[in-house]
Amino acid sequence: MDASFVKTPEIQKLLDRASGVNESGGNPRLKAVLRDLIESTMEVIVRHDVSESEFWLAMKYLADSSGEIGLIVPGIGLEHFLDLYLDAKDAEAGLTGGTPRTIEGPLYVEGAPLVEGNVNLSTDPDEGTQVLHMTGTVTGPDGEPVQDAIVHVWHANSKGWYSHFDPTSQQTPFNNRRRIKLGSDGRYAFHSKMPSGYSVPPQGATDQLMQALGRHGNRPAHVHFFIEAPGYRTLTTQINFGDDPFAADDFAFGTREGLLPVPSRQGDSAYIAFDFQLQRASGESDEGFSSRHRASAQAQEPTEPETETV
Ligand code: DHB
Ligand code: FE
Repeated sequence: MDASFVKTPEIQKLLDRASGVNESGGNPRLKAVLRDLIESTMEVIVRHDVSESEFWLAMKYLADSSGEIGLIVPGIGLEHFLDLYLDAKDAEAGLTGGTPRTIEGPLYVEGAPLVEGNVNLSTDPDEGTQVLHMTGTVTGPDGEPVQDAIVHVWHANSKGWYSHFDPTSQQTPFNNRRRIKLGSDGRYAFHSKMPSGYSVPPQGATDQLMQALGRHGNRPAHVHFFIEAPGYRTLTTQINFGDDPFAADDFAFGTREGLLPVPSRQGDSAYIAFDFQLQRASGESDEGFSSRHRASAQAQEPTEPETETV
């Protein structure tokens, strides 16, 4: 049988009824999207002659893996696809230039301490790893220093674990997470304990899926950023270390050309100079964050920016 079976009047009527398209109540956009989603699922079932056992195995996987959905989405390339789609729409609208966007990933936490100056991100000792020193500027399309920028930065520790999500519970809240308020020169500087590459939790749902696909669940060592400033589009990006063994083989597809600096490693220190360029926002709705649900926690530090020195 071929997928034209799904186009028969009986199945089309089922789709109309299931998605409520002929009902007056409800959300029309949801109805339209869901109708297409169910229809695509039916077509996949027919095209691959999916058995009942296989279908219910997939449903059990979906039910059991919901806690790792934020990891699975980048792992199957969908989060990177969203970036490529946004890029293509931007190009169509003539919006080009600036630092490339790349995936947020699932491990941001709202409420990190707001700090100023040359900032230390690492609250915990994390002995035996290098200290990363990262510096640069945040400019706009004409090279102008961006005013009142806030740089959100977050990364893993030397074991590859993120604070708040560390299964060993060994990290202080907001270790390796800060919001840095920049001055009028648009310059930023921070130092922190060098992150290691990240691996999905062993034996978890993402790991199981990657093994079933003959893939791995590793990311190169990386540092995440959101950069927000009035009048500019919020940038979601990250740098991945160009000398990491997984630099060209990131399971989450977050590495992009222009975002792979090689740290200059000198004894106990490693240095990265990296400048960010923001696009100008066309209006207020263009400025902000997506309304993606994000983990949040209370900062223990005062809400006024603290000035830290080296
Ligand atoms: C995943 C983890 C990350 O640290 C990241 O930046 C992106 C994705 C993940 O587990 O899928
Ligand atoms: Fe990450």
